[in-house]
Amino acid sequence: MSGPPWKRCVGSSRSASGALTGNRYSNSTELSCGPESGVLSVASLVPVILLPVFRLGAAKGRGHGRLVQEVIARASREMTNFDVENRLLMEDGTVKTVHLIGHAMQSSSGEPEFVGAVMDVTEQKWALAERARLEQRLRQAEKMEAVGRLAGGIAHDFNNVLAGVFAYGEMVLDEAPEGSPLRRYAQNVLTAASRGRELVEQILAFSRSQRGKRAPVDVAPVVAETLELIRGSLPANIRLESNAPDLPLVVLGDATQLHQIVMNLCSNAIQAMRTGGTLRVTLEAAEFPGEQALSHGTLDPGRYVRLIVADSGCGMDEATIVRIFEPFFTTKEIGQGTGLGLSLVYAIITDSGGAIDVKSAPQQGSTFTIYLRG
Ligand SMILES: Nc1ncnc2c1ncn2[C@@H]1O[C@H](COP(=O)(O)OP(=O)(O)O)[C@@H](O)[C@H]1O
Ligand SMILES: [Mg+2]
Repeated sequence: MSGPPWKRCVGSSRSASGALTGNRYSNSTELSCGPESGVLSVASLVPVILLPVFRLGAAKGRGHGRLVQEVIARASREMTNFDVENRLLMEDGTVKTVHLIGHAMQSSSGEPEFVGAVMDVTEQKWALAERARLEQRLRQAEKMEAVGRLAGGIAHDFNNVLAGVFAYGEMVLDEAPEGSPLRRYAQNVLTAASRGRELVEQILAFSRSQRGKRAPVDVAPVVAETLELIRGSLPANIRLESNAPDLPLVVLGDATQLHQIVMNLCSNAIQAMRTGGTLRVTLEAAEFPGEQALSHGTLDPGRYVRLIVADSGCGMDEATIVRIFEPFFTTKEIGQGTGLGLSLVYAIITDSGGAIDVKSAPQQGSTFTIYLRG
């Protein structure tokens, strides 16, 4: 068998003071596991499990270990086998997952006795979760690439179509007499075409983001310039607070792409605060000595520039959070959202070795933390 070996243990419900009377516990039940394998002690109502041999230490804590305790208590009462997996909170604050199996037998005196095994499956659980996370990331990357390629192709052709609409729209506008309905119609054609061009630009930016050019850029002035633009069109009921150190924060990237990241995160934040609120933008240096797991991606150890965009808006539920980076995913009305903003942010960040952390809950606001490789 792979993984840590199972520890065999033989247990008895009898404790030092002879615990089981009738169908009820007195104060403790012991699974004694032999001199070299230690003691698994299950106190009846206190969630304490001692597994010294398995170097698990003493497990204390609300909820943790309780399931094991209940299962063993029931197995003792009903003389049944048990097979249980449970998370234990160790004294040093770490959490372990253990798998216990026990086969019930009757001792010569008629009391329940168990032959069983216990295995620390923490590492296996972690490896399984990590694998699921990597698979999910791979699927997302594949999806982004396919959509990016497709959208890029369509957008390019669409641009050519729009060029015709613009050219003839402008000709009509020039010919139409001032103040005539025809002039208004032509203006509407041009406005709609401009909206189309903005959309095409976003799609092209999205598909280009997968092969962006990279050079050292100081993020601070890029963020400051973008915030200046945002401040200009900020609704009166939204306060913008920004925080950035005076020293340069240099990353390998593309200034236009960085501008797009800040712009997209801030406009989402503003759109989430329909009834007003505070938009907080923070820029700072960060350094990680070890690998760092985030809600979306893992960071290698090293230096980063951290951009935090936090709002006090409507927030998101779990079902929304898992989909926000999907291309074309939007909860906004038609014409309000394209669903491309965050997928563009995601593509730019992950492409440059960065990662994103998202924290949000309904009515609790949202915080997007972006890590850019320093
Ligand atoms: N700050 C935020 N607060 C609440 N919801 C957000 C926030 N940012 C993004 N979202 C959610 O993520 C979705 C996708 O965002 P995005 O990709 O920028 O597309 P769009 O803004 O065009 O809808 C939004 O429709 C919204 O539901
Ligand atoms: Mg958006």
